[in-house]
Amino acid sequence: MSKLRHVIRAEQLVDPALLDELFNSASKLERDDKALKLEHPLRGRILATMFYEPSTRTRFSFEAAMQKLGGGVLTAENALDNSSASKGETIADTVRVVSGYADAIVLRHPQVGAAEMAAEASPVPIINAGDGAGEHPTQALIDVYTIRKELGRLEGLNIALVGDLKNGRTIHSLLPFLRNAPGVSLTLISPPQLRLPGKYVRMLQEADTRFAETTRLARVQPADVVYVTRVQRERFASEAEYDAVKDSYRIDLHVADSLKARSIILHALPRTTEISPEVDQDARAAYFRQARNGLYVRMALLNYLMS
Ligand code: NCD
Repeated sequence: MSKLRHVIRAEQLVDPALLDELFNSASKLERDDKALKLEHPLRGRILATMFYEPSTRTRFSFEAAMQKLGGGVLTAENALDNSSASKGETIADTVRVVSGYADAIVLRHPQVGAAEMAAEASPVPIINAGDGAGEHPTQALIDVYTIRKELGRLEGLNIALVGDLKNGRTIHSLLPFLRNAPGVSLTLISPPQLRLPGKYVRMLQEADTRFAETTRLARVQPADVVYVTRVQRERFASEAEYDAVKDSYRIDLHVADSLKARSIILHALPRTTEISPEVDQDARAAYFRQARNGLYVRMALLNYLMS
């Protein structure tokens, strides 16, 4: 496979050899970091992070990753108000200019397809860190890495996806990985209004992936992985529509206790009410470990794209 230039869609990352390379590199970087033996392969290089939507862990983990690899960071937080976008500049123009200062650009934007547009205009790698309700491929990479690290494999697992399957971009990016893994079966749990969009359902059908759609949270019980999402308030047309579904599901101690002993609960975070804080003490609650893995997976990805 030829080397990737931009990372826009999860589909670009599903190649098994590429995944092995990135995941082996992430584990090695974690070991080296813990032993205080990190090298600085990206010394002198610069990463720009341009966030037109709120973020904590995605932006910080990319910036920490770049700095741990010896590189520097230029950052535009709240870029809708604080960059030339507020003067009416197009993404294409902004990216053309920023690529003169930075060796790669991480972009988060409310519009589906924004990263694709940026990539067309950019001479340096563009990494999609979320394009509206579209995709979030690096989060999916972290999710797959976490599942493999926690449970040893992806193959044959029963995976429940819970919550806002319509707007959750982390779900949309996770599906190409799950669809490709032999023997995976999926339980798609959402309120009727937040069902997985037809485009993704067809993708699963075409791959002959086993899946069932339901509204019942009790169906998480046999799952090896319970992947919970936040209801994506910012994608709703009105507050009333959001209110109607926002409290559809809650993983509390009672639900957590019903899960298999060797299962894990994942969440890309931030959470609102969908996982009770008491569940955090349960060894199966893997979401903070998942967030931590983000640092090493993003280091591996930056190193791959930029060195
Ligand atoms: C996710 C996102 O931005 O899509 N967060 C993240 O990157 N960790 C999930 C979310 O906001 O609900």
